[in-house]
Amino acid sequence: MKKLTINPNKKISHINKEIYGHFSEHLGYCIYGGMYVGEDSDIPNINGVRKDVIDALKEIKIPVLRWPGGCFAEEYHWRDGIGEKSERPVRINTCWGGVEETNHFGTHEFFDLCEELGCEPYLAANMSGGTVWEMQSWVEYITSDSKSSLANERRKNGREKPWKFKYIGVGNENWGGGGNMRPEFYADEYRKYQTFCKDYSGNHLLKIACGAGDGNYNWTEKVIESISGTCPYGISLHHYSLPTGKWDKKGSAKVFSDEEYYHTIKDAMDMDELIKKHGEIIHRLERKDRPIALIVDEWGVWCDVEEGTNPGFLYQQNSMRDAVVAALSLNIFNKNSNIVKMANLAQTVNVLQSVVLTNGKEMLKTPTFYVFKMFAEHQENDLVESEQDKKKEGGVDCLTHSVSVNENGELFVTISNASLKKSFEIECNIDTGKSPVVADAQILTAEKEAYNSFENKENVITKPYSQYRIENNKIILNIPPVSVISFKIK
Ligand code: AHR
Repeated sequence: MKKLTINPNKKISHINKEIYGHFSEHLGYCIYGGMYVGEDSDIPNINGVRKDVIDALKEIKIPVLRWPGGCFAEEYHWRDGIGEKSERPVRINTCWGGVEETNHFGTHEFFDLCEELGCEPYLAANMSGGTVWEMQSWVEYITSDSKSSLANERRKNGREKPWKFKYIGVGNENWGGGGNMRPEFYADEYRKYQTFCKDYSGNHLLKIACGAGDGNYNWTEKVIESISGTCPYGISLHHYSLPTGKWDKKGSAKVFSDEEYYHTIKDAMDMDELIKKHGEIIHRLERKDRPIALIVDEWGVWCDVEEGTNPGFLYQQNSMRDAVVAALSLNIFNKNSNIVKMANLAQTVNVLQSVVLTNGKEMLKTPTFYVFKMFAEHQENDLVESEQDKKKEGGVDCLTHSVSVNENGELFVTISNASLKKSFEIECNIDTGKSPVVADAQILTAEKEAYNSFENKENVITKPYSQYRIENNKIILNIPPVSVISFKIK
């Protein structure tokens, strides 16, 4: 029998709600069709955004939404997306499919959506394809309560009160699509641009520098070395999990071998090492009075697109494999919440590892959605000390977990089992000296390729979990293969 030992009295770090964040780019049917259908659509909507999608995102308590990209952010010009919709310029989205970008979803639509969702907006600002003034004036337009021309222009466009927002990303993947820069050059550009990200009317910006992709530690080292004196809030990290490990043939989201399954799990498990190694560099080089957070603002499973869909739209189905990846990744973020202060799954709707998929008027919730719903209780809890015996299957550690405590002293536990064949008995030992009471126990489990289709939307859903017993003040859990479990301990 494996052991899970929990010490509820040893708080390790705070779990920022932003760890449960999302990312939506002008890419394929993420924004247009997936979120934004326009006020005149016969699909029920609030200010043009689908009501079913809004309700689903509220259900998982979406805490933060990153926008407008991704790669697209570096060619986005905010003035294209304000004012009368019929007069907004139509551009070509050269990043994703070369399609026409109507700019009907712009600054007002995004900030209104975040207000409706009750989540923090996270702006990914154009650095390599824009100018300092463009970035500075965007912030003034959004946040100034003055009578400046920009603030008045916002009022003329329908928004009297300024919006408040905290998170601003200075550039995206500037080592690649965002300008192919060397870290030294990016660091200088960051230093310049961040100087002009100003605070207006009591708003306070938290600036996020562009960090590495995967294990590019040289990038983190060079950038942090140069910018730590400017006191950024954070630096980003992007890491995607590929079924085959090959970018030119990533593998299918729906049909995959055991080998591809375990490769995807291993790629996702690598997140822990990436966080620790980038984190070590950050700790070594940051100003000791101004710690720098790691912001994992793009993560998830990246597969080949579904047959017959536009290769530039990155549309993929979402199976129980994605659910296990989501659960183990969120457990890793929780366990590293001393440095990971935000993470954003790529991408919210119809792109890569989505939480919902749409098809015309129809919408479905993916297995990944249910994991975010199960884990939402961790938001704003404190991580507590816990240790679990390890078990390797298919070359990977297949058990992950995290435990947090809320302000009422209730513990919340999440566990994932990535093994395809093995179920595990786990003896959960909590250092309280009294008999534990288990509440709200849930399980998500299915065979690895199971997914929700428009014909069978509830093929993979959470169910009550009852495969546990209490013995001598310990909880004995039975964890089936390919499963995710969550429960409270009172
Ligand atoms: O999420 C899809 C793309 O992946 C983003 O636009 C880019 O930042 C990353 O390479």
